[in-house]
Amino acid sequence: MKFFLDTANYKALAEAKETGLLDGVTTNPTHLSKEGGNVSELIKKIASLLSPCDVSVEITEKDPCAIYTQAHEIAALAPNIVVKVPCFPEYLPLINKLVHEGVPLNITLLFSAVQGLCMAKLQVKYISPFIGRLEDIDSDGIELIHDLRQIVDIYAYETQILAASLRSTLHVHEVALAGAHCATIPVNIFQKMLDHPLTTKGMSLFDHDWQTLGIKKFP
Ligand code: E4P
Repeated sequence: MKFFLDTANYKALAEAKETGLLDGVTTNPTHLSKEGGNVSELIKKIASLLSPCDVSVEITEKDPCAIYTQAHEIAALAPNIVVKVPCFPEYLPLINKLVHEGVPLNITLLFSAVQGLCMAKLQVKYISPFIGRLEDIDSDGIELIHDLRQIVDIYAYETQILAASLRSTLHVHEVALAGAHCATIPVNIFQKMLDHPLTTKGMSLFDHDWQTLGIKKFP
């Protein structure tokens, strides 16, 4: 399973890269708004840090013609950029066109299995179902991942399911079991993934018992 970090924070990405667990990053306009500065330069810096891993960058235009141009401009920032486009009916023709032109796409704000089916049929690289936001409206985000994985497998689509809007380590566990190919994980959850109170307690107990021997150097 691929792990992406759900952030645009360079320092957090540089630290996460050192763990060896990181396969890429998903940014969005909210994440970028928190960083400020020269957004294009930041994206280029992140893309270079993580190369050749995928760096998702969302379009900000609204009109389909403007999005089409902007998608190419964003993709040209670095070879490992994936362009995020919302799963919006008006954008279907431009999504189709961009796929045929070889622009790697991550279809974001995706909330139903049929939306995912249509996007997988168009052969986009990633679809991003938003788990937390579905749960906010009392819908089952994990069931959606199960359904999407079945659809992708039945029809042998190459589209990867990128579980997004994760709010807990339990979400990471659940989307992994449900068959998501990738999970994009917020920094605070990424940092908690290896935490377990019994690991900490066990280490402290072993250390205490070892100290009773009074050995200065071992071996
Ligand atoms: C990532 O691609 C999404 O933009 C992100 O996971 C959304 O998360 P949120 O619902 O917590 O804003």
